[in-house]
Amino acid sequence: MSSGVSEKVLVEYCKAPNGLEKVVLKELRGSSAEMLQLKKKYSYTVVYMTMLASIYLYGAQVSSWKNEHGEELLFMSSKATFKSPKAIRGGIPICFPQFGNLGSLEQHGFARNRFWSIDQDPPPHPTNSGNKACIDLILKTSEEDSKLWPHRYEFRLRVTLGPGGDLMLNSRIRNTNTDGRSFTFTFAYHTYLAVTDISEVRVEGLETLDYLDNLKDRERFTEQGDAITFESEVDKVYLGTPTKIAILDHERKRTFVLRKDGLPDAVVWNPWDKKAKAIPDFGDDEYKHMLCVQAACVETPITLKPGEEWRGRQELSAVPSSYCSGKLDPDQVNG
Ligand code: BG6
Repeated sequence: MSSGVSEKVLVEYCKAPNGLEKVVLKELRGSSAEMLQLKKKYSYTVVYMTMLASIYLYGAQVSSWKNEHGEELLFMSSKATFKSPKAIRGGIPICFPQFGNLGSLEQHGFARNRFWSIDQDPPPHPTNSGNKACIDLILKTSEEDSKLWPHRYEFRLRVTLGPGGDLMLNSRIRNTNTDGRSFTFTFAYHTYLAVTDISEVRVEGLETLDYLDNLKDRERFTEQGDAITFESEVDKVYLGTPTKIAILDHERKRTFVLRKDGLPDAVVWNPWDKKAKAIPDFGDDEYKHMLCVQAACVETPITLKPGEEWRGRQELSAVPSSYCSGKLDPDQVNG
């Protein structure tokens, strides 16, 4: 009898039953191998655990992220529609070129309801993908969009499923205007985390920070007290946050660790019961099982001159909550 560990990485392209094209990233880990001796012949049984992430080309939206036990880690509404022009209610919609609904652009911008393409020729990444499952997607200016937002840009998104099942989103946005004009944008990875019971969830890393309250015309307040818990509607933009935020699901004994770069703010949103009922593609009670925590850049928009590129990264891991409360150090969490 012996054991070993082997890893396989798969990238599959398919059409979902809803008709939308999607990419499935899989990490297969052969966690154990049994060797049996049968009449001097050996046979091996390798038990593979599969971690996966699914990404729709529509919106470049991660719609599913599963751990090695097949548990879904992202929330997707049972009422989500998978039809243009509506954005998909769940997973990780991308908010670009704006977060929120200021000005004439549609709420949260148009990137989340455009059809992206597979980037056949992605530029080299500073963090080499190595043996990781990843996909590169691209969105460029279209005639139609330039009427809404009169700029030329290239938006490259790399989605990676790391060997431990971590989900990484790397964005690169380049100003390709040929008329010398700069452009300005705000941004968010609108991440819907799946939680067991919102009233048993705690967020660490945002306490004592300033925030803009979307429920009070974006007035600025300072968070008081301990870690953040939930007992009513919340719609806040925390400003200048640490690069690591922890979301503790007590009932499931699971902690999500969100790490970010290039995105100073973090949006926390739960519609609670009244607002949930008013959102057509959201189930009445589904607010109990989700929490949006979003790496974002909202307060100070990003400005790019022609030829300049911006990068913004969000990385999520889900770890057992043997996590030490109050010590927000995911390096320790991951051992
Ligand atoms: C959040 C915003 O990020 O997204 C909320 O802070 C908004 O104000 C919510 O209601 C959902 O937006 P949408 O456009 O997806 O319904």
